[in-house]
Amino acid sequence: TGRKFFLGGNWKCNGSKDSIKKLVDELNAADFDDDVDIVVCPSYVYLTQVVGSLTKRIDVAAQNCWRGEGGAFTGEISADQLVDVGVKWVVAGHAERRHILGETNTVVALKCAYAISLGLNVIIAVGETLFEREQNLTNDVIFEQLQSLTSKIADWTKVVLAYEPVWAIGTGKACSPEEAQEVHLAIREWMKKNTSEEVSSSLRIIYGASVSSSTCNDLAKQHDIDGFFVGGAAWDGKEFAAIANSV
Ligand code: G3H
Repeated sequence: TGRKFFLGGNWKCNGSKDSIKKLVDELNAADFDDDVDIVVCPSYVYLTQVVGSLTKRIDVAAQNCWRGEGGAFTGEISADQLVDVGVKWVVAGHAERRHILGETNTVVALKCAYAISLGLNVIIAVGETLFEREQNLTNDVIFEQLQSLTSKIADWTKVVLAYEPVWAIGTGKACSPEEAQEVHLAIREWMKKNTSEEVSSSLRIIYGASVSSSTCNDLAKQHDIDGFFVGGAAWDGKEFAAIANSV
């Protein structure tokens, strides 16, 4: 496909100095194929610990950032601050932020555009809930999320798009490879129509929700699945490396 395989490990609101040191040691010792980009996403408070101790083979992402320049926004972290501490990536639009913290499509798009303007790369998550899937609204919901993004983002070379069916996150039961491929293809076709052929064919669309070393190979064989965004499976160095090296 010409698209380099991509693996993101989202540590979510988990970990401690000690458990993260142990995981970083495992990742530093792990054997990763050359043909995969790898990024891990610690909580804010551990970003500098991880940037300072993790092999340069793996990049570091924050799980979120404020939607614009810093200032009087208590409790927020600006993209400028992420750049300052050596972080190269940021996650935006994760389902947990959209649905638990109430982030709207517009807020997600604004923070992506601002982060990209500072040179950060973004992993942007999109996806439907179970209710939306049952109502046959999967494509409508995702296309609306994409519409907000394309109205604000000009440079798509900085973006990895993660399709995360909300109903499969953390359940241990991934979407079937065919179901996932169907959505990935729909996203790519929508992008082709609404951005350009070039953006659509080079954009990495990764799958995230209950990926493990036992499901990754069949998913990775699908034409429009260009990698994974994993949560639970990111906490074991060997499991994570097996997913990075999936075929
Ligand atoms: O960001 C990652 C996803 O939410 C997947 O989490 O692998 O634990 O299902 P999970």
